[in-house]
Amino acid sequence: MSVRRSVVRGVGHHLPERVVTNDEFAQRLDTSDEWIRSRTGIERRHFAAEGEMTSDLALRAAERALGDAGLEADALDAIVLATSTPDLTFPSTATKVQADLGMTRGFAYDIQAVCAGFVFALANADMLIRTGEADRVLVIGAETFSRILDWDDRSTCVLFGDGAGAVVLEAAEGKGDAGDRGILAVDLHSDGRYRDILYVDGGVSSTGSAGCLRMQGREVFKHAVVKLAETAEAALGKAGLTPADVDWIIPHQANLRIISATAQKLGLPMERVVVTVGEHGNTSAASIPMAMSVAASEGRLSPGDVIVTEAIGGGLAWGAAVLRW
Ligand code: UT7
Repeated sequence: MSVRRSVVRGVGHHLPERVVTNDEFAQRLDTSDEWIRSRTGIERRHFAAEGEMTSDLALRAAERALGDAGLEADALDAIVLATSTPDLTFPSTATKVQADLGMTRGFAYDIQAVCAGFVFALANADMLIRTGEADRVLVIGAETFSRILDWDDRSTCVLFGDGAGAVVLEAAEGKGDAGDRGILAVDLHSDGRYRDILYVDGGVSSTGSAGCLRMQGREVFKHAVVKLAETAEAALGKAGLTPADVDWIIPHQANLRIISATAQKLGLPMERVVVTVGEHGNTSAASIPMAMSVAASEGRLSPGDVIVTEAIGGGLAWGAAVLRW
């Protein structure tokens, strides 16, 4: 049986110029490079310059992904952009990127599932392609979390960074089995009962301000180590695969200890895990497409490789996607 699949045709990422080391935080907060490295794996992160917006980072990542795919913007049918740090309340950051790319057709919209945003956006774009609504979709994860950090809260402000990653998905015919290229399965969840362990204390209809990120880190950590392995295994099961078939895990980059615990639960060695948290920090919805782009640019991903991506964040919202490169 012939089925439509969403195959990755191009990938790209962009990081703002300014690099901030752990030592910079240690100069004005009761923290240390040693604490941040040993508890999280983070060594540095990038922060957007004044006036540099989420759409600016997204545009650069999008241009690179389109260049990698060898496509002009008008070859796209849709842009799905995952972010929790949009330029404006509305219109969507995706429509800004659409205009900046010079894309005069199709449609663009944002998706908000915080750190799980890219997995949700990928799943959404895959549905657009599989239902025939679109042939080519640009999926972007872009964030400026530096804009919602409390610089006096050492338990959160050292963890996050800014950046953007983008993937061009294109329709291709597959046989409908696990040997197909493209997205093979997704697994999505949320549980709003946990929304107060990771949230921003402001918003349009509550305070009328942007607010600051608040997190009970230890609680989120406990959920992450259980839920990420479960959702990765569930997505693999839906694809008709097992962890033994996996060539690469491309996880959300929040904490090296969560990343390695998840790999261990799946029975996979760290050599099969793409890790960028040390250089990028936690960039929320941007972390997976950036890690994918880094791995691709280093020539680590080969056609036919089975990749699992998984993420968890505010909501709680979590999920995984399995694709063959
Ligand atoms: O991407 C969205 C999902 N988010 C995550 O996945 C994040 C999940 N959580 C984590 O990654 C970890 O829980 C953290 C990295 C946030 C914290 O690590 P932890 O090992 O869970 O530490 P903790 O929160 O239990 O804190 C241990 C100690 C505390 O001191 P006391 O109470 O034991 O005296 C904290 O006050 O470390 C202290 N602490 C710090 N010390 C130095 C917290 N932040 C810092 C800091 N520097 N920056």
